[in-house]
Amino acid sequence: MRTLKNLFDNNIQWAAKIKESDPEFFAKLSRQQNPEYLWIGCSDSRVPSNQIVGMLPGEIFVHRNIANVVIHTDLNCLSVIQYAVEILKVKHIIVCGHYGCGGIRAALEKKAHGLIDSWLRHIKDVYRHHQGKLDAIADDNERLNLLCELNVIEQVGNVCHTSIVQKAWESGQELSVHGWIYSIEDGILKNLNVCVDGACEMSDTYRIHWK
Ligand code: CO
Repeated sequence: MRTLKNLFDNNIQWAAKIKESDPEFFAKLSRQQNPEYLWIGCSDSRVPSNQIVGMLPGEIFVHRNIANVVIHTDLNCLSVIQYAVEILKVKHIIVCGHYGCGGIRAALEKKAHGLIDSWLRHIKDVYRHHQGKLDAIADDNERLNLLCELNVIEQVGNVCHTSIVQKAWESGQELSVHGWIYSIEDGILKNLNVCVDGACEMSDTYRIHWK
């Protein structure tokens, strides 16, 4: 049996280091979690939510998938959003993409990648919505990076269009949805300035009229 002993050793050291600065840290955390943020990010190992924004365990509720996509029929992602909004009452949902995303790159290619092609089809849809602008860019990396940004903006919209988020706004709950992008090359986050605070900011096509 392979036990990955190095990971267990790391864990002992990590827990000891945290307890050194706050002996009650884990005891307090075990009683409840009270995060203010839901992070929806890419699964890429180079984009770890907590480390990037200097947060400890308990401070961010996290959902990650390939290319940080929010699909209206993805029960996994929707369940995370529902729990975060209705039970944890997070104040901010952050959709965070990253430049050079392999999922987005694969979506731009014409070849078959297997099962994942069905997932990446959603990114092809984003591409189609902005095809003129994207095709006008000669440089492959520049085109890829613009699609990485446009994908974040699209997913911010998808979060806002969920009945979960619209219901929260309808009931007066304080909730903002943000779109950010991270650069693996220098470790810096960029705000795409697409913060949405209420249903009045979204297209009526997706808006639920509760009354
Ligand atoms: Co990625």
